[in-house]
Amino acid sequence: MARRGISELRSQRWYASADMRGFAHRQRTQQMGLRREEFMGKPVIGILNTWSDMSPCHAHLRDRAEAVKRAVWAAGGYPVELPALSLGEVMVKPTTMLYRNFLAMEAEELLRSHPIDGAVLLGGCDKTTPGLLMGAISMNIPAIFCPAGPMLNGRWKGRTLGAGTHTRAYWDKLRSGEISQDDWVDLESRMTRSFGTCNTMGTASTMTSIVDAMGLTLPGASSIPAADSGHTRMASACGARIVEMVWENLRPSDVLSRASFENGARVFMALGGSTNAAVHLVALARRAGVDFGLSDLDRAAGDVPVLVNIFPAGDRLMEDFFFAGGLPALVQRLSGHLDMSARTVTGTLAQMIEGVECYDDDVIRPLENSVTKAAALAVLQGNLAPSGAVIKPSAASPHLMRHKGRAVVFDTHADLVARIDDPALGITADSVLVLRNAGPKGAPGMPEWGALPIPKHLLAQGVRDMVRISDARMSGTHYGTCVLHIAPESAVGGPLALVRDGDEIELDVAAKRLHLRVSDDELALRRADWTPPAPRSLRGYTALFCAHVTQADQGCDFEILQGGPDEPEPEIF
Ligand code: FES
Ligand code: MG
Repeated sequence: MARRGISELRSQRWYASADMRGFAHRQRTQQMGLRREEFMGKPVIGILNTWSDMSPCHAHLRDRAEAVKRAVWAAGGYPVELPALSLGEVMVKPTTMLYRNFLAMEAEELLRSHPIDGAVLLGGCDKTTPGLLMGAISMNIPAIFCPAGPMLNGRWKGRTLGAGTHTRAYWDKLRSGEISQDDWVDLESRMTRSFGTCNTMGTASTMTSIVDAMGLTLPGASSIPAADSGHTRMASACGARIVEMVWENLRPSDVLSRASFENGARVFMALGGSTNAAVHLVALARRAGVDFGLSDLDRAAGDVPVLVNIFPAGDRLMEDFFFAGGLPALVQRLSGHLDMSARTVTGTLAQMIEGVECYDDDVIRPLENSVTKAAALAVLQGNLAPSGAVIKPSAASPHLMRHKGRAVVFDTHADLVARIDDPALGITADSVLVLRNAGPKGAPGMPEWGALPIPKHLLAQGVRDMVRISDARMSGTHYGTCVLHIAPESAVGGPLALVRDGDEIELDVAAKRLHLRVSDDELALRRADWTPPAPRSLRGYTALFCAHVTQADQGCDFEILQGGPDEPEPEIF
C-alpha cells in the first residue's frame, strides 16, 4: 500500500501553514498544554465519542476513548476527542430515530470543520452506529468504528433475561397477573447487569455485527462484551490501526462496495436481526453511492436462514455468541454465501476467518440446523404498501403468517393508548390492529410503536400475538406478527390513510402480500375525501427533519444528505 507523506494530510492545512492562521492553530493547541513536538507533523485522529450520562449503553466510552488515545500516541498520531450526540435509546424521546440524521450531520461536520485526518467512531446503542457511519461515509476520510459492545448476560430466579425482549415479556406477565408487582420492581435491577448495548439481537447488536461484516470495524470487534478487558484492548487496537489507515489513505469508499452491502444483508438475516437494519442499511448504501434497496434485503432473506440463536428469534444472548466465536465464526459459517474478497479495515473477509472456529453449534447453528424455518425478514407489497413494508417472520407467529381479519384503526399513537383496552371496540384475536400517522413525517421520527399492545381482555384469554400493521418501526428486541415501515406512510397520503374500521385486510407472508380488500373505486372515493393531517407548528430541528426526511424504503435519510464526498474542503483563513 502506497503511504502518504505528512504534507498530504488535510490537518496540515491548519498546522503547517506559515501564515498568521497557522500560527493561531499551533498557538491554540499549545494553549492546551501540548508541546509543539507532541502534535506537529503527526496525523490528527478525531475520536467521535457518543458518551453521555444519559446513555447507559455507552457509560464506558470515556474510558475507551482513553485507550484509543493511548494507542494513537504510541503509533505516532495526535488524538483529539470530540463529543457527539449520545442518543441513549431508552431515554431519548420521542424516539432516537428522529435524531439519527442529526448525529449523522454532526459526525460529518465535526470531521469536516476540524483538522482531522482519520476518525475512530465510538458508538453502538441503536441509532449511533448508522448515525456515525452515515456521517463518516459522506466525509470519506479514513474511519474505523469501535462498537460499544454488548452488556453481560442477565439472570433472574434461574431464568435468562435479555434486555428489551424480557421487558415486554414480563410486562405482559404483569398485566396478566403471572408475576407480582414486587417481581416487577426486582426485575428493574436484574435485567441490565452491566454497561454496554442490549445483549439481545436488538438493533444495536444487529447493526454493530453487520458493520463488522462489512469491514468497518476491527474483525470481530462487535461481539466483544463491553465489560471484557478485551474490549479495552480492542479500542486500543482501533487507535493503532487508524494511524496506519491515515498513512494508507484507506477510506470508507475503499472498504465499501455493493458486495459489502450484500454481505451485510446476508449477515443481517443469519443474525435474525432487527427490522430497523432494513432502514439503516439502505441509508448507509445511499451515502456510499451503492445501489441497494429493499428487494436486495428480501433476496438475502430468502438465501440465508437464521443461524444465530439469540433473543428474540432464539433463546441465548450476546455473551454466549462471543464465547461461541462471535461474528468471525458466523462469517465462516456463511462463507459460501458471502463475497469473501470484500474489504475490511484490516484486509479481507477471507482473512477475517483464518484460523477461526465455532465453539458452540447451538449458538451459531450450522446451515442445516437453522434456529427457525422462518426468515429474518420479508418485504411485503400490495395496495396497502405500494413502496413496500417489512415483517420479521422469525419473531412472528407461524399461525398468523397467512391471515385475514377486520381492521381496528387507531389514528395516532395517543388514540391507541387511550382506546386499546376499550371492550366496546369488539377486538378479537382475529382482528387486525392498524396504527397510522406513526411514520417518518407523521409521528414524526417513525418511533418504535409498531408492536401494538395486545388488548388486556385478550391477554387474559392467553392471546399473545395478533396481526398488527403500521408505518412505524418496532424495537429489534420485540416480537410479534407486526407489519412495519409501510411506505408511503399515511401522513403523506399512503393508502394506510384510507383504511377504515371493519375493512378486511389480508396478510400472506409466503406470497409477500399485504392487501386491503377494498375496491379501487371505493379507495378513490376515500382518497378524494382525505385531508392530510393538519400541519403542526414545528420549530428547529423537527421542522428540518419533516421538511427533508425520505420514506422508509429510501432509508429515512434527509434527501439533502444522501450521496457522497463531493463537498469541498473548508477554506482556511
Ligand atoms: Fe442501548 Fe438497547 S438501549 S442498545
Ligand atoms: Mg432497540
